[in-house]
Amino acid sequence: MDGQPRGPHFGEQDRRLSYGSYLAVDELLSLQRLLSDPPAHDELLFIVVHQAYELWFKLVLFELGSARDAMFADDTTLAHHLLRRVHTVEEVLIEQIGVLETMAPVDFLEFRQNLAPASGFQSVQFREIEFLSGLKDERYLSRLVLDDAQLERLRARLAEPDLWDAFCALLTERGLPMPDDDPRQRAATLHEVLRKMHEHPEEFALAEALLTHDELFARWRYHHVLMVERQIGSKTGTGGSTGASYLRTTLGKRFYPELWAARSDL
Ligand code: HEM
Repeated sequence: MDGQPRGPHFGEQDRRLSYGSYLAVDELLSLQRLLSDPPAHDELLFIVVHQAYELWFKLVLFELGSARDAMFADDTTLAHHLLRRVHTVEEVLIEQIGVLETMAPVDFLEFRQNLAPASGFQSVQFREIEFLSGLKDERYLSRLVLDDAQLERLRARLAEPDLWDAFCALLTERGLPMPDDDPRQRAATLHEVLRKMHEHPEEFALAEALLTHDELFARWRYHHVLMVERQIGSKTGTGGSTGASYLRTTLGKRFYPELWAARSDL
């Protein structure tokens, strides 16, 4: 050995690619456009946190779609691997709420009036995650203000199979029937999987991974409404809803009610 590194000299290939150009850092850093003038101190925080959410949502959608496809391909190892990644990102999404909670309510009021009628309610990727996870509600197509491309994305999500469809298909393929039109049979199958994890280890692990995804999303909803109450109390939302009281009506949403219900019958 002459001490020289073998193989390609990373970073030296004709010196065209750089950290900044690969990651489009200049473009990324030019996207935080404050509306307040003079700038309100906390508006940068507010924008960065929301943009970070949308980036993470993009990854969550990509991984959930891949996990669904893996289940259709009967690849439980890959599906489980990707769902674990999603869980870790979801933990980050919950943690990230704490960053916004460092904002004092009066500091938020400095720029909040500029935001209406914009609201997280209009996050298209958030609805895509709900739809892809199994919570399909086409009423959002008319409730949200969408351009043609966004409308098309949501329509496609409504039409395509979701994670629950893929999970049911995988179990059925493996001799554990999950028929669309027979809830009692589905309950019996889930009972079997949850009762006999040693006989159905892969199916059990997937069922638990889906439940964890559901639980983490529900935890995000709880933390979000607490943060909202902390910031604006009982004021109405910039999106025009009743605010925290509207958000409390969403806390019972679940992607996989049958997995939750199965616990009661064990
Ligand atoms: C100071 C911070 C925040 C406040 C005061 C706030 C407030 C609200 C309110 C009042 C609503 C109900 C709709 C409305 O009338 O506007 C809402 C919905 C929503 N917000 Fe936030 N929010 C904050 C931060 C965030 C962040 C960081 C996200 C991350 C993307 C987010 C995502 C959402 C989503 C997805 C909904 C719709 C929930 C549903 O309909 O199930 N919010 N928010």
